[in-house]
Amino acid sequence: MVVAAAQVKKVGVIGAGTMGHGIAQAYAQEGYQVTITDVSKSALTGVKDRVKSNLETIAREGLIPQSEIEKILARITVVDSLENAVRDADFVTEAVFEDLPTKTKIFHEMDKFCSPECVLASNTSSFPMTQIASQMERPERAIVTHWMNPPYLVPLVEVVPGEKTSAETYQTAYEILVKIKKVPVKVQKEILGFLINRIQTAMNREVYYLLEAGVASAEDIDRAVVTSLGFRLAFLGPLLVRDLAGLDVDCKVADTILPELDSSTQANRLLKDLVKRGDYGAKTGKGFFSYTPESLAEIIRERDRRFIHLLKELY
Ligand SMILES: NC(=O)c1ccc[n+]([C@@H]2O[C@H](COP(=O)([O-])OP(=O)(O)OC[C@H]3O[C@@H](n4cnc5c(N)ncnc54)[C@H](O)[C@@H]3O)[C@@H](O)[C@H]2O)c1
Repeated sequence: MVVAAAQVKKVGVIGAGTMGHGIAQAYAQEGYQVTITDVSKSALTGVKDRVKSNLETIAREGLIPQSEIEKILARITVVDSLENAVRDADFVTEAVFEDLPTKTKIFHEMDKFCSPECVLASNTSSFPMTQIASQMERPERAIVTHWMNPPYLVPLVEVVPGEKTSAETYQTAYEILVKIKKVPVKVQKEILGFLINRIQTAMNREVYYLLEAGVASAEDIDRAVVTSLGFRLAFLGPLLVRDLAGLDVDCKVADTILPELDSSTQANRLLKDLVKRGDYGAKTGKGFFSYTPESLAEIIRERDRRFIHLLKELY
């Protein structure tokens, strides 16, 4: 038997990077005591500052009162080992590098150190829980909860059970995500990339192709998508959009355009060249666009401000 969502008091987070610190924040914001760890000292020392900065933006936009910031931060405890992070936890989320052997080892260790009732979730972007849990004695308590960046703002969390995940584990994971005001969606098959990474990768393959072929500039491709697909998709799903437009039209358009679309089964050459040069995007100061620390901070601030407006409007 695993813990019921209503009984969860303490949450553990393994990995304090882009996703881990934000997942810890999302639980702490809703009143949970959170213990977080990482193998990197700098990641650990930076956790509270990163969370504080996120909370200040959220408070500025009126999503939480300013007076809550210190209380939320006080609920997050930074510890220096996996064992200390999970020993007393009722629900743990792992968010370390996307590396299967690392995740498999962590789940094996957590299985030993956690209480038998504790639910163990992975934020993997791609690996099936059946593989991650392969060394566990109690694989029935392991499940994928796949968040999106920034995790404290984007509502969706994909919930993907493995072959041995129990119905109780699924229920606890689903209900705790609802309690912290997320929108969990069940992925019924252990398909590589789950739902959203498959859809996003399919779109991006064509985006990279159009850029490489010189059909439009990077700025114009982004502007076109934001002011059309992005505008609609914030409120309507792609299937409802098609229903409203008329499936007969969609069928004709698909038959005409699909044979022309990029169908390559590898990352686009343009993307590979950027990565080979060390241009990883915002984190290195250059990708499709260029960034200074100041311009990046402004982009993130503006992104979060707009996401918060959308959150208030929609959820
Ligand atoms: N970045 C995204 O947009 C995004 C979105 C959804 C899911 N994910 C998934 O979330 C996970 C984390 O991604 P991220 O973007 O936060 O990566 P990141 O590189 O920002 O952070 C990963 C952290 O894990 C730590 N780590 C590595 N091995 C560890 C170990 N054995 N024990 C404890 N800590 C360890 C690293 O020191 C690092 O701080 C990955 O599985 C990724 O695929 C990422």
